[in-house]
Amino acid sequence: MKVLAIESSCDDTSFAVVNDDKKVDFHETINHRKFHREHGGVVPEMVARQHLDIMDHLSKFQKKINFANIDAIASTYGPGLIGGLIVGSSFAKGLALSHQKRIIPINHLQAHLLSPRLVSQLSFPYLCLLVSGGNTALVLVKSARKFITLGSTIDDSAGECFDKVAKAMQLGYPGGPIIEKLALDGDPTTFNLPQPLLKVKDCNFSFSGLKTSAIQVIKKNKLQKKFLKNFSASFQFTVGEIFLNKINNAFAELKRKKIKIRDFSICGGVAANQYVNGLLKDFIEDKGIAYHQVPMAYCTDNAAMIGWNAIEILKSSKNKFNNYNVRPSPNTLIHENF
Ligand code: KG4
Repeated sequence: MKVLAIESSCDDTSFAVVNDDKKVDFHETINHRKFHREHGGVVPEMVARQHLDIMDHLSKFQKKINFANIDAIASTYGPGLIGGLIVGSSFAKGLALSHQKRIIPINHLQAHLLSPRLVSQLSFPYLCLLVSGGNTALVLVKSARKFITLGSTIDDSAGECFDKVAKAMQLGYPGGPIIEKLALDGDPTTFNLPQPLLKVKDCNFSFSGLKTSAIQVIKKNKLQKKFLKNFSASFQFTVGEIFLNKINNAFAELKRKKIKIRDFSICGGVAANQYVNGLLKDFIEDKGIAYHQVPMAYCTDNAAMIGWNAIEILKSSKNKFNNYNVRPSPNTLIHENF
């Protein structure tokens, strides 16, 4: 099976051709970051225009594709910014109609959660920490179509917290990679930041209190290199501790429910963070569970994971799945299937 995939839910326009043997024939992601940096963040209307321009440019890549070999066309239908979702899914439908291919609408969050299986052998059910710009959740992945959210953020996402804290330090967008780089030379014990919901023994996260406290500390300090490094290290350390604490609660919950898992992974943009990966890997492996790190190109938004999700759906439906009638849906939840 071979799927042509399109991703356009936020500020990356991405195309890929993915095979059922996990081979990725083609993968190109164009991010709009340089453009959005001028505005200090993502402006929804401008996102749609950027996708439109890039889609036009990338449509030239069609010439490289032998459509006779393509089984289906997949694209993100939600969640995300409606402008981008409309551009990508309309483009996918146009291609599908003109080449008489099936449409596989993809839930962007489920694609993140299944992305580790594109590169590693994870068996269902496995535990996955989804940490992106829009979401933070601990999810039990039971199959390609069944996801159980053990807990999620009650306010901001971890990625948003990285971005807002970086913005307060005037570091630019996206904040995560910049904070990670500065933290390499900083002392994580310099600032003691709050870990919201620490005492609550569930799997829910909260990042707005950490964000507000962090911004207050930043406002009281001069933005000199030493401060930026030490503060970045302290902030990143705090986020890591929050993750550890909540993953620990998830393991306790799985134990109570007598659910055994052999594999763990972390996905979404924040999963690109090497400090977080190192911290979690030691913790997870200590528990006798395999830790699977997703390569950078598949952590942030990308079409390869959309194509792989479509392959998983096709495999579980004996290559029969098709859904032309679905509409883009900006508020799609993790467990919702199209
Ligand atoms: O998954 P993603 O590309 O977009 C969404 O679907 O939301 O995630 C983007 C988020 C941004 O908030 C960005 O700051 C964060 O991922 N991010 C990182 C790193 N690289 C990207 N956060 C921490 N450390 C990183 N190295």
